[in-house]
Amino acid sequence: MRVLGIETSCDETAAAIVDNGSELVSNKVSSSMKLQAKYGGVVPEIAARMQLETIIPVIEDSLKQAKSDWRDIDAIAVTYGAGLGGSLLIGVLSARTLAILKNKPLIPVNHVLGHVYANFIKHTSLAGYKISKDEIQFPFLAAIISGGHTQLVLFEDYLTYRLLGRTQDDAIGEAFDKVAKILGLPYPGGPSISNLAKTGDPKRYKLPKARVSKYDFSFSGLKTAVLRLSQDQIGENYDFPSYKLSERLSETQKADIAASFEFIAVNTLIDKLNEAVKEFNPRCVLLAGGVAANSLLRDTLKESLLCPLIMPDPKLCTDNAAMVAALGGWHVKLNSPLADPYSLTIEPNLSM
Ligand code: KG4
Ligand code: ZN
Repeated sequence: MRVLGIETSCDETAAAIVDNGSELVSNKVSSSMKLQAKYGGVVPEIAARMQLETIIPVIEDSLKQAKSDWRDIDAIAVTYGAGLGGSLLIGVLSARTLAILKNKPLIPVNHVLGHVYANFIKHTSLAGYKISKDEIQFPFLAAIISGGHTQLVLFEDYLTYRLLGRTQDDAIGEAFDKVAKILGLPYPGGPSISNLAKTGDPKRYKLPKARVSKYDFSFSGLKTAVLRLSQDQIGENYDFPSYKLSERLSETQKADIAASFEFIAVNTLIDKLNEAVKEFNPRCVLLAGGVAANSLLRDTLKESLLCPLIMPDPKLCTDNAAMVAALGGWHVKLNSPLADPYSLTIEPNLSM
């Protein structure tokens, strides 16, 4: 079962091919990130325009990398939500058209669930991937941590799951992006903060951990605490504009703020994960979503988690189509309903 996955929910245009939900044979991602960096975040119109231009070349590249042509493709899987409306439309309309033209079954994929299925990719002949061979057993606990989501989900089976908690305001990746903006670091904020934090002192500033109910999260207070701390460090009060802060903070202050923020954000997540492991006793924990690429989180969890840890290669944590093709393969195996290529619509607010 060879599935072509298509992903265009945010600023990436991605196509990938996965066999049987577990073997990665091609993975292509083109991003408008460099264009977006000028604006410090994703401008939906810029993203959609780039996607319209790149979707067909990216799909062709993906087929080429797999040394495949359309005859080898058994089904097309596409992200239909959650995400930006204009962006989702490009992927869904392309997938619908190709499904009709090439006469292939069309599988609708939930982006957020797709992040979890990046962990089900177990083999690849492509160079440059480090893939965990550890077996995934149910029940498992998934930490879905991205720019749009922060949630802990207990999976009893492939498609049977229970939400234990979620963020009440900002997603954890969004907090990385906003703190990076305060510190004048380039978008996306996660990797920028993570790099700078390596040179900083995580204990220099004491930032607050939010108090919310058991498995819920809140990151907007932490972001505000970083703003107030930065204003305080340069001797200004709370009405000093955030966009002028970075030019007044020293390099050491920035590095120490980045490290102190990353330390608290990552440890908030780790505390909740460990509590959930104690209460629900899962067979393993899976990380999913862009923030799962964070090296402090990965290294600390490897040392401290009270049960086996499975995480995708960092390249499969941030948005990609391999996870979409993998989940598509599992949908086929599990006999999930197919989409009608003449009527599949996007669902920008789709939840799990
Ligand atoms: O999963 P993703 O690519 O897109 C969404 O579905 O949201 O996640 C993007 C988020 C961004 O907020 C980005 O700053 C964050 O993941 N991110 C990271 C790292 N790499 C990406 N956060 C922390 N550390 C990283 N290394
Ligand atoms: Zn994502």
